[in-house]
Amino acid sequence: MGSVPTIAESLTDAVRVGLEGASGGYASGMATTETRTASQGILSDDNAAKREEIIGLLKKAYWMEIETVMSYLANSINPDGVRAQEIVESLEKDIQEELGHARQFAQRIKELYGVVPGSTDFEAEQTYLQPPEHQTDIVHVIKGVIEAETGAIEHYNRIIEATDGVDWVTQDMVIQILHDEEGHRRLFEGYLREYQAEGLA
Ligand SMILES: [Fe+2]
Ligand SMILES: [Fe+2]
Repeated sequence: MGSVPTIAESLTDAVRVGLEGASGGYASGMATTETRTASQGILSDDNAAKREEIIGLLKKAYWMEIETVMSYLANSINPDGVRAQEIVESLEKDIQEELGHARQFAQRIKELYGVVPGSTDFEAEQTYLQPPEHQTDIVHVIKGVIEAETGAIEHYNRIIEATDGVDWVTQDMVIQILHDEEGHRRLFEGYLREYQAEGLA
C-alpha cells in the first residue's frame, strides 16, 4: 500500500513546483530583461562580433553576385554562332537570378545593421570569365560559368556553417540561394558533357 502524503508534504511539493515554474517560465522573462535580450538571436548585443563576421561573409557574397552579373551579361552578348544560342539564352535568364541574389544579400546586410558597400570597394576576381580570344569559343564560357558557380557554392556553404545555430534567417536565405547555384552548375555541367561527347571540349 502506497503511503498517502501528509498535508505538510503536499504543501512542500506545491511550493517547489511553484518555484520551478517561476524560474523557468514566463515570470523571469517578464521580470528581468536579461533572459529576453539573450534570446534575441543574431540581433542581440551579445552577438555583435558574430554579426560582424556574418556581414563580412555577406559582403563578399554580394560582390560575387555583382561580378557574376557583369560576367554573364558580357558572355550572353559576345558569343558568335548557332551553337552558342542555348548558352546565351541560359545566361540571359541567370543574369536576373544573380541580380536577385545580390539584392537579397544586400537586404540582409542592412538587416544585420551593416551598410551595403559602394562600388569603389569592388575588386574583380573572375579571371576565368573574361572574353575568350575567339567569340565562337563557347566551351570557354561554359567552363567559366561552372567555375563561378562552384566558387559561389563553396562560399555559401561557408556562410551556412558560420550562421548555424546563431542566425537562422541568413542561413535559410543562403540555403535557398545555394539551391539556385547548384541548379546553375548542374545545367552547365550538362552543356559541357554534350560538348565533351562530341569531342569539342
Ligand atoms: Fe547567385
Ligand atoms: Fe548562379
